[in-house]
Amino acid sequence: MFDFNTNHKALVWTMFLVFLGLTIWIAVIPAFQIQNEYGPLPEQKDLTQEERRGLEVYIAEGCVACHTQQVRNIEMDKMFGKRPVMPQDYYYSKKRQDVWRQSPSLLGSERTGPDLSNVGARQASEAWHLLHLYEPRAVVEESVMPSYRWLFEEIDSNYVSESDLVVSGIPEEFIKDKSKKVIAKNDAKALVAYLISLKFTDLPEDMEAPEFIPLKEKDKELAGGSSESSSSGVDGKRLYESTCAVCHQSNGKGVSGAFPPLAGSGIVKDPNPTNHIKSVLFGKDDNPQYGPMQAFADELTDEEIAAIINHERTSWGNDAETITPEEVKEIREEGK
Ligand code: HEC
Ligand code: HEC
Repeated sequence: MFDFNTNHKALVWTMFLVFLGLTIWIAVIPAFQIQNEYGPLPEQKDLTQEERRGLEVYIAEGCVACHTQQVRNIEMDKMFGKRPVMPQDYYYSKKRQDVWRQSPSLLGSERTGPDLSNVGARQASEAWHLLHLYEPRAVVEESVMPSYRWLFEEIDSNYVSESDLVVSGIPEEFIKDKSKKVIAKNDAKALVAYLISLKFTDLPEDMEAPEFIPLKEKDKELAGGSSESSSSGVDGKRLYESTCAVCHQSNGKGVSGAFPPLAGSGIVKDPNPTNHIKSVLFGKDDNPQYGPMQAFADELTDEEIAAIINHERTSWGNDAETITPEEVKEIREEGK
């Protein structure tokens, strides 16, 4: 009966059953196992409709060509997030985009730009993202990221209405027609909403985050000889560069019309540091000329905030007294 040379039905049926068996074994069973083992984290939020649309713009524009969304468990990835990613972090993408397409997990493999898994936590400003997408070099002088002007529209200043989202702070050299204003199209708004939604979910108390594998001594030297600065504490200038300079700029001059200068700022030069510390810990939104600044209390430790503040208080012609981490701690506790 199993003479495959003469019995073509047996041949087809055998092939079919082997194929089915392998599919179940290799694809279906592992999928169910993973689904049962890695449910969503309790605090995890699903993407809103707008964020989901932003995800589609992210895919369509090919941002994955330069940006990863995976903080690996190795020391050099620590700068992109407090913990390495876990399988649960990708749970949202189980929801299909439509009948035909599954939502991809945009892990990426190229890192021409920074990892974006936690970009919503370190960069929560809509105004910054819009300006950066319109013209990356308006905020990061040496950026090689392309500008995404087609996500924006230039319209005559007279026709700007209340509901339009105007991009502010575009330096003059990037505007062709000065009588026009740049407004964000819906795709840009959705993309920014998606970017801001990208942040790590807090783990439940009984769950441990995977740990970063520390660099070996000899690799530390290769990585830039950081062994020195790590023993002598935190480097305020470097932290300022990585956390604050995208808005306030390395020279402390800010971006006119979008992000205030810290050189010569009243708050920074104030002998009483309370307001300075408060604006960094809890954010600030009392100047109608500018959008809000996000809070950094969850992102930075007392030591890091003190180091950054001291850098600001003693640079670019500022000459205010420095502060200690204890002062930050006190205000952090009062604020709670
Ligand atoms: C050619 C490579 C390239 C492409 C394509 C690209 N980027 Fe970038 N991106 C970069 C580089 C380089 C930086 C770092 C310099 C800067 O901030 O502009 C960056 C920075 C960023 C940042 C700031 C990250 C941070 O940690 O502050 C965001 C957000 C971002 N890109 C989003 C996007 C989005 C959204 C797209 C697709 C619409 C995109 N990028 C496409 C190269 C790229
Ligand atoms: C996404 C952009 C952005 C980032 C990043 C940012 N800021 Fe700000 N910052 C602002 C804006 C906008 C304001 C004005 C807020 C207002 O007054 O309404 C501001 C205001 C301030 C002020 C008050 C200045 C004044 O004279 O009113 C200080 C001090 C300050 N920021 C410090 C920091 C420090 C320190 C960091 C890094 C840990 C930082 N900022 C990161 C956007 C940013």
